[in-house]
Amino acid sequence: MVTTPLIEAENLAVKYPNGDLALEDVTFSIDPSTFMAIIGPNGSGKTTLLKTMLGLIKPAEGSLRVMGLDTRKEYQKIRRMVRYLPQRDEIEATVPVKVKDIVLMGRLLKKPPLRMASRKDVDFAKDALRRVDLLDLWDHPFPELSGGQRQRVLVARALAAEGQIMMLDEPMSGADHDSQVKIVEALQEYYNESQVNIIMVTHDLNPIHTVVKDVLMLNRRVMGIGHPCAVMDLELLKQVYGPTAKIVELAGHKYCITGDSGFDRHDH
Ligand SMILES: Nc1ncnc2c1ncn2[C@@H]1O[C@H](COP(=O)(O)OP(=O)(O)OP(=O)(O)O)[C@@H](O)[C@H]1O
Ligand SMILES: [Mg+2]
Repeated sequence: MVTTPLIEAENLAVKYPNGDLALEDVTFSIDPSTFMAIIGPNGSGKTTLLKTMLGLIKPAEGSLRVMGLDTRKEYQKIRRMVRYLPQRDEIEATVPVKVKDIVLMGRLLKKPPLRMASRKDVDFAKDALRRVDLLDLWDHPFPELSGGQRQRVLVARALAAEGQIMMLDEPMSGADHDSQVKIVEALQEYYNESQVNIIMVTHDLNPIHTVVKDVLMLNRRVMGIGHPCAVMDLELLKQVYGPTAKIVELAGHKYCITGDSGFDRHDH
């Protein structure tokens, strides 16, 4: 039996109205039950790819399918299956709401109007906040949290929601090491327990390369795809990130040092 790929791109090209080609000649296929990272430098088309999967941007050429559904025509069905966490700069953080409201929103937005939280919704929301270790902030005002705590709450919102695919656009940006670890651990634990697919855009593969199954490396085109170890290749990293990219091995683990990892800030 042939399984339908989770994501299938064929000669995909995406253009913005100003004519900029954000993605070009993108062909790849990812099998279901994935925990996948999308990496690549700034402007490499990562966010564009997620938005195209959701039908928010239409392909200029080629096709993109999510669980066999065409993103051009069947985006409403796709959006019902997806829990989407947009990139940080697209999220309004000043609205005077409480942490619980943000997490509950993950469940209520998919309900018909007159959206009241049921006992079950509250239970799911609390469980999700516990997973990111912030249950004690349930009643706390969201705008008063630190950047890293906000990211954890937003990850909790995705965890509390329903849908077979989580799409997270840089969920760890602005989070310190401790918050990053909590986010990675929460996602890993949830992935292991549920049948949910996780697609995560990230600037830094290092905190997650041991937990993800697939990596897609973009630079307007597909630069690499496969197991994290296959993508952590020095020649490939240099091609994508420039000649200063390095790979170091520490306690049996490979780490990438790129301009994006933040590591080379300490690399005098
Ligand atoms: N709304 C837009 N209109 C025109 N061009 C855009 C728009 N959004 C993005 N672009 C361009 O498309 C390209 C890809 O952008 P995209 O946001 O997908 O990159 P990214 O890999 O997510 O980058 P980052 O790591 O900075 O988030 C960039 O050259 C960007 O300038
Ligand atoms: Mg982006």
